[in-house]
Amino acid sequence: MLGLVTLLLPSALICFVVATAHSVSAQSSPDKLPETPGKQVFVAVCTSCHDASLMTDAPRTIEGWVDVVYLMKDFGAMATDAEWKTVTDYMVTNLALVEVNKAEAAHVQLVFGISEAEAKDVVAYRDKQGGFKTIDDLKKAPGLDAAKIDTLKDRLLFK
Ligand code: HEC
Repeated sequence: MLGLVTLLLPSALICFVVATAHSVSAQSSPDKLPETPGKQVFVAVCTSCHDASLMTDAPRTIEGWVDVVYLMKDFGAMATDAEWKTVTDYMVTNLALVEVNKAEAAHVQLVFGISEAEAKDVVAYRDKQGGFKTIDDLKKAPGLDAAKIDTLKDRLLFK
């Protein structure tokens, strides 16, 4: 009898641990991800091996996310070229910390939701000014919306 108990107890424990891990991952799954175009592709490509909390809980710069994409490809993540672009654009648009004095026009365009021409104007203005030191400097850039900048303020880096 004792033999059976010692046999059953560890397996019951393992079941409990596995069940707990499952419910935790179910809770923190895609819900924190903003509903913008690309979310479905992002979720499909990036949450098949682990849940989305890895993406929402640790802030990274755009470069940091590009590195993560390379790493995930090494781990076996699969997608078409078009899907990889969608995934990367989704992370730049919604998740990445943005170094406003370094960001290229294509990224400025995504982050601030402006046109390609407007983004180029922002970059040209930035370079002429010698960079943005504060959020108020950024608000003076042509074509950028102050309210939009305020919504992004936790993601903007001015170093
Ligand atoms: C084929 C399986 C697989 C897919 C698909 C996948 N990952 Fe991962 N991911 C992993 C593995 C394995 C790890 C390492 C787990 C660990 O560190 O515990 C990991 C870890 C991570 C980490 C943590 C890295 C760190 O340095 O702490 C992030 C962030 C991440 N993945 C993001 C993504 C993103 C974004 C995508 C979609 C582009 C993605 N993953 C798709 C397997 C995958």
